[in-house]
Amino acid sequence: MYWLGVDTGTGGTRALLIDAAGREVAAVTAPHEEIRMEHPLWAEQRPEDWAEAAVLAIRGALAQAGVSGRDVRGVGLSGQMHGLVMLDKDHAVIRPSLIWCDQRSQPQVDFINAKLGRDKVLESIANPVLTGFTLPKLLWVRDHEPRRFERMRKMLLPKDYVRYRLAGEFATEVSDASGTALLDVVHRRWSFDMVDGLGLDRAMLPAVYESSEVTGTVSAHAAELTGLAAGTPVVGGGGDQAASAVGNGIVEPGIVSCTIGTSGVVFAHTDSAAWDPQGRVHTFCHAVRDKWHVMGVTQGAGLSLQWFRNQLAPGVSYDELMREAAAAPAGSQGLFWLPYLMGERTPHLDATARGGWIGLTAKHTRADLIRAVIEGVAYSLKDCLAIIEGLGVPVDTVRASGGGARSPLWRQILADVLNRRVATLETQEGSAYGAALLAMTGTGQFASVAEACAATIREAVSIDPRAAEAASYAAGYETYRALYPALRHAASVNRTRLSESV
Ligand code: XUL
Repeated sequence: MYWLGVDTGTGGTRALLIDAAGREVAAVTAPHEEIRMEHPLWAEQRPEDWAEAAVLAIRGALAQAGVSGRDVRGVGLSGQMHGLVMLDKDHAVIRPSLIWCDQRSQPQVDFINAKLGRDKVLESIANPVLTGFTLPKLLWVRDHEPRRFERMRKMLLPKDYVRYRLAGEFATEVSDASGTALLDVVHRRWSFDMVDGLGLDRAMLPAVYESSEVTGTVSAHAAELTGLAAGTPVVGGGGDQAASAVGNGIVEPGIVSCTIGTSGVVFAHTDSAAWDPQGRVHTFCHAVRDKWHVMGVTQGAGLSLQWFRNQLAPGVSYDELMREAAAAPAGSQGLFWLPYLMGERTPHLDATARGGWIGLTAKHTRADLIRAVIEGVAYSLKDCLAIIEGLGVPVDTVRASGGGARSPLWRQILADVLNRRVATLETQEGSAYGAALLAMTGTGQFASVAEACAATIREAVSIDPRAAEAASYAAGYETYRALYPALRHAASVNRTRLSESV
């Protein structure tokens, strides 16, 4: 017996097959087309491409394992969050999707706040509306492409379009729906205050399920395309972050996950819907029944090191950069890195924030520059953790994943800066693994998501913080925190000058 997790990522779709013990049996990624960036801040992909990639990845995973679709007991879906998929009366895609990193909708965010009031929005959806969320993207289409908007009958999220193509159902689940800015996150249902208040049609919304509930079954047509059996249950699944948290076992209080990919995410499970009145972290439904999560996002985590390597050390491997950084002393001789290469979400909510090194002297070496980058990213993740702890969420252990977590130096610096034990797991499959565990739960293999995680997820290595380094990083963090407010004014004057000279 097998279960399948299908993750509609940004770069590609990954299909992962696991067995009853949670062991990985096969995994295949089918790449997506490049993101279309017609203008700065715009980012679009074709939903049809995701559906085609899902077919290829599923077929590929079954073939790789030599498993018949009849032996797959359930399918779980996860995917990039926030993307807008618009379907017409014949259920055809109306336009390419504005995806999660599309930032064109600030005027629509301002309109929503003016129309409904910022406090009312926070009360309705437990979050402020951000440009990345789905709702302002929909209003952008209403404002700029009214004919396309009028043809819309259904609005779906990326993985839920794949669900429609697999099972013919219009459905979503609470964790992904939280990122639309249309879900009443506290009560886990659509917020009609938002929908009606903005003059939108309730009928466009798909049904909302809990993440491990069965939402439909594989259709005969999809069975033919994928090799799965018609009638195979498809469960709700989750937004990529919630699904990845399930895959990392973040389903109870006390453990948080820290993912260092291109961006960095600190994710904590909460038993109730705790939200930050300033909206610096997202408060979303968890993929666990009646549980929530808070999540802080650093835009330029692994991206900072990638930028360093591409611009200042071309051809040097990440392992070599890490070896070089290990030779520099903790604290990088008083040098700091601000990782705001793509603006910042947590804690500044400032799309125009800018990065840089502060504190350079002639004595600094390239090793200090690299180490400062790693330390700066760790400080920014501490900003996320500090807000999460400020909401009263207990944190004993941090489970690290993503490319950055593969480096023992980065994990040690993270442990010292956060002053927490940092662990890594045996499985590194993240979202697709979480989606497969949700499928196991939804088809009755486990009684709950927590039970599924307890049975399948094991810590591999763990690193404790070192007392002396932790104390020196605690002092360094105070300096780091003072830098953004001190530089903000100068940075905005500079931006104005630059934009005037264009
Ligand atoms: C979450 C977020 C990303 C996307 C793409 O808020 O923006 O995780 O889901 O991975």
